[in-house]
Amino acid sequence: MTPSRSAIVTGGARGIGRGCALALARQGFDIALVDLLSKEMDRTRGEIEALGRHALCFEADTSDFARARQVVAEIQTAFGRIDFLLNNAGKAQPKGILDIAEDEYDRTIAINLKSCFNYIHAAAPLMLAQGGGRIASISSLNALSGGVTAAVSRFAYATAKAGILGMTRALAKELGPTILINAVCPGLIETELAKNHVIIERGAQLAREGIALGRVGKVDDVAQLVVFLATSEPCFITGQHFVVDGFQYHV
Ligand SMILES: NC(=O)c1ccc[n+]([C@@H]2O[C@H](COP(=O)([O-])OP(=O)(O)OC[C@H]3O[C@@H](n4cnc5c(N)ncnc54)[C@H](O)[C@@H]3O)[C@@H](O)[C@H]2O)c1
Repeated sequence: MTPSRSAIVTGGARGIGRGCALALARQGFDIALVDLLSKEMDRTRGEIEALGRHALCFEADTSDFARARQVVAEIQTAFGRIDFLLNNAGKAQPKGILDIAEDEYDRTIAINLKSCFNYIHAAAPLMLAQGGGRIASISSLNALSGGVTAAVSRFAYATAKAGILGMTRALAKELGPTILINAVCPGLIETELAKNHVIIERGAQLAREGIALGRVGKVDDVAQLVVFLATSEPCFITGQHFVVDGFQYHV
């Protein structure tokens, strides 16, 4: 039997985070979910428990540094170790440079980039002390492409998501060889975030015109890669980003 391992999934209540949490649970991980949405988080907790794994829920804003330290300390106490951290919590920002207010820009960076710092800062010392650990952060295709003109996630989101790539490369050097850290850049994936911003329709058009694999992505497309980054042995991969977009060549 595989010994039990534990993972933190931020933004794990729904969407890509939920899909990754369930995929990790299927691989034998106990899961700590951190999210703002308690009802959705409870539902995901039930799904994880139905797979025979332990699940914990923490209602928290991942951009809150002090709360991140508290949450990670409680997870460490409950699970005894933290094998994998998935920084997934994130939010789109549809405003362009001519419309955005300072607080909206700051909030976008806080949710999408500082949240990663907060959870890595809290979890890395524990991973180093236990002699190993892995981290993956969900960036975006936008970090590389700048986004589609009509997309919801304009420059502030792209800035934050590109910041994740720099953070990943630098921390791979700082935390290696004990901790492996990588980033994932999804293209258009069908989730609440995408549906709320009516970009799935745009995605369907893109799929016809400009996605080599002819469809919009699914949560499990991302989860497969995340499971690989969390579990593959041996692993000689760190400081990298991986694009999961079906080759979206028009963005
Ligand atoms: N869906 C896509 O097409 C797509 C593409 C590229 C990247 N991404 C990224 O993937 C990640 C997941 O996106 P999704 O599509 O599943 O979105 P989603 O909105 O369906 O899920 C995001 C989850 O993060 C949580 N969250 C947001 N802000 C938070 C905060 N401050 N503190 C705690 N929890 C918070 C939300 O409550 C939600 O449960 C995000 O980082 C997003 O930027 C998504």
